[in-house]
Amino acid sequence: MMIMDDIISAVKEAGEIMINAKRPKIMEKAGHANFCTETDEKIQAFLIDKLSAILPEADFLGEEDGQDVFSSKMESGYCFVIDPIDGTSNFIYEYRPSVVSVGLLKDGKPCMGIVYDPYDDLLFSAEAGRGAYLNGERIMSSNAPLSDSLTVFGTAPYYEELQERSFDIAKKLLRLCVDVRRSGTAAWDMCCVAMGRCSLYFELKIQIWDYAAAALIATEAGCTVTDAEGKPLSYRGPASCICRSRGVKEIPDCFK
Ligand code: IPD
Repeated sequence: MMIMDDIISAVKEAGEIMINAKRPKIMEKAGHANFCTETDEKIQAFLIDKLSAILPEADFLGEEDGQDVFSSKMESGYCFVIDPIDGTSNFIYEYRPSVVSVGLLKDGKPCMGIVYDPYDDLLFSAEAGRGAYLNGERIMSSNAPLSDSLTVFGTAPYYEELQERSFDIAKKLLRLCVDVRRSGTAAWDMCCVAMGRCSLYFELKIQIWDYAAAALIATEAGCTVTDAEGKPLSYRGPASCICRSRGVKEIPDCFK
């Protein structure tokens, strides 16, 4: 789509806002240690402003403006799905990375995804059916087996009822791979699988704005992205998620 370059410019400017923010005000949301900062809100407002000029007919679904539920009007036409800062806790504690994530749905299906780490200037992008790119270079996920790979997981931090099972799976996974990592941003994790740094990411509950862009990028890099039961992601709301690289042919038994 012709608008990709314009969206990338907007996302890069949003990344500048992130890295230039000084001691932002922090607000608490529902759930365990679920924060929002004034920088999240500033970036989201900035992106809505820029993106509505690029694609005026598009709806918006974003983490921070209360417009966070997929509605029936988003079933048709375009809808931007925005996470202004994925990795807000990392951002607050200056523990990197944190990324800007912008997905675009067309008729409820992912058609474009951009994830940007402004600290290392790493820009991931994908359009459905056209491959995944990192700073303009094509990327493919790893062909290595799980036993020869790193894996990464998210702790589903806002949902205490999922923590036992999350760590139980992570512990079993540790035996099947080289080692397990936890970065603090789901979108980044999936991009790491997409570019071949690790071979599997899982998390038992993430929101649509965490996965809308990154799941498309990973899919276009040859990954298989499903929920924990192996079903395709809905792109309608929260989901469990397993993102496997090309070398991980099956969902490991530890998810059963
Ligand atoms: C969170 C991060 C984190 C993941 C959580 C997400 P946020 O997003 O992606 O890694 O474990 O499930 O909600 O709140 O920083 O945008």
